[in-house]
Amino acid sequence: MFAKKSIINKVMELKIANITASRQAIDMEERYGAHNYHPLPVVLNRGQGVYVWDVEGKKYYDFLSAYSAVNQGHCHPRIVEALVKQSQTLALTSRAFYNDALGPYEKFICEYFGYDKVLPMNTGAEAVETALKLCRKWAYLKKGIKENQAKIIVCENNFHGRTITVISMSTDPDAYKDYGPYTPGFIKIPYNDLNALAEALKDENVAGFLVEPIQGEAGVFVPDDGYLSKSYELCKSKNVLFIADEVQTGIARTGKRLACDHENVKPDILILGKAISGGVYPVSAVLADDNIMLCIKPGEHGSTYGGNPIAARVAVVALQVVEDEKLADNAERLGKIFREEIKKIDSPMIELVRGKGLLNAVVIKPHNGKGAWDVCLKMAELGLLAKPTHEHIIRFAPPLVINEEQLREAVDIFKKTILSF
Ligand SMILES: Cc1ncc(COP(=O)(O)O)c(C=O)c1O
Repeated sequence: MFAKKSIINKVMELKIANITASRQAIDMEERYGAHNYHPLPVVLNRGQGVYVWDVEGKKYYDFLSAYSAVNQGHCHPRIVEALVKQSQTLALTSRAFYNDALGPYEKFICEYFGYDKVLPMNTGAEAVETALKLCRKWAYLKKGIKENQAKIIVCENNFHGRTITVISMSTDPDAYKDYGPYTPGFIKIPYNDLNALAEALKDENVAGFLVEPIQGEAGVFVPDDGYLSKSYELCKSKNVLFIADEVQTGIARTGKRLACDHENVKPDILILGKAISGGVYPVSAVLADDNIMLCIKPGEHGSTYGGNPIAARVAVVALQVVEDEKLADNAERLGKIFREEIKKIDSPMIELVRGKGLLNAVVIKPHNGKGAWDVCLKMAELGLLAKPTHEHIIRFAPPLVINEEQLREAVDIFKKTILSF
């Protein structure tokens, strides 16, 4: 009797200690961290494959995948092995010297995506900045646009990152307000609007068109079939570079290696990030052929960490895993099941489901004063993590290593959640 009581006490103590631990972690971030995020109140300390665990030991499906960075699943053993091995050998040289990991990575990624050259960076926003600079250089050196006159067409509701120049392209006040003055030289047109693109392309100073093949942050907006290929043709007819930001859509997320592959479009400049490292290290990349990439000469662009040996080794293995485990096929197949199953749920709160591969969103219609945030809180309680993007949209983007049984279990959690309101 006494033993049983003391075990119960111990369990209670542990529970309280852990709840205190998670409370403390949240409080500490609140107290010492800038308030630039609004996380769900879940404190994670472990991840494996499609699962993450909180400090209380509760297991969750991760249906955010760090905004599609963890396509290969949390802590993929092959990727972690590459990370550990290289970090014990040589971590950083800067580009002042050669290192023996970068060349093999550059060859690998160029052949993988079919380009002449790669420019390695670290984060998505840096890669976008790099692409913009590359496009402008090309405009002045190759297209013959007069100095400082080059313009780049971008789409409304885009998300390309957080730097000053990148938010200068944004139409979301949360992203740009009170950060001015802004970088000039952008023409903003509606997404998925070929007429608007054709009109904007009449300006002879246009050098590039920057587009997300699916607008992820905006709420997983999938453009009409043919939008990418027709945009590409319009750009070609005006000697304008077609620049695809595949930071979120790339690396098998949408059911093909690149989202542009759905329309057989090969962007003139391809921007990659996030899952290029399987989520274990910040790695991004810009790919282009020589006539564009060689416009940038030594000393004209760079990054201390860009192309470091750890990043190089990690990215090769992370991209190999995508192929070896056929993650694009898995995303394509399970994405269809996901959308079919969500459509079967009879709830006034589900306005629609849309997406491609395993990049999907459910638009939530508020009900009894409850919206997307409340749905996400309840799902977390039941063991499924996802996050609203904008007020009424929940993105569902699990690691691509998920299997059908796991996907169906996660859909059941969503169903149970939504029917509970
Ligand atoms: C399409 C797209 N581009 C760029 C970025 C910026 O990437 P990062 O946060 O690594 O700077 C993101 C991030 O979500 C993105 O979705």
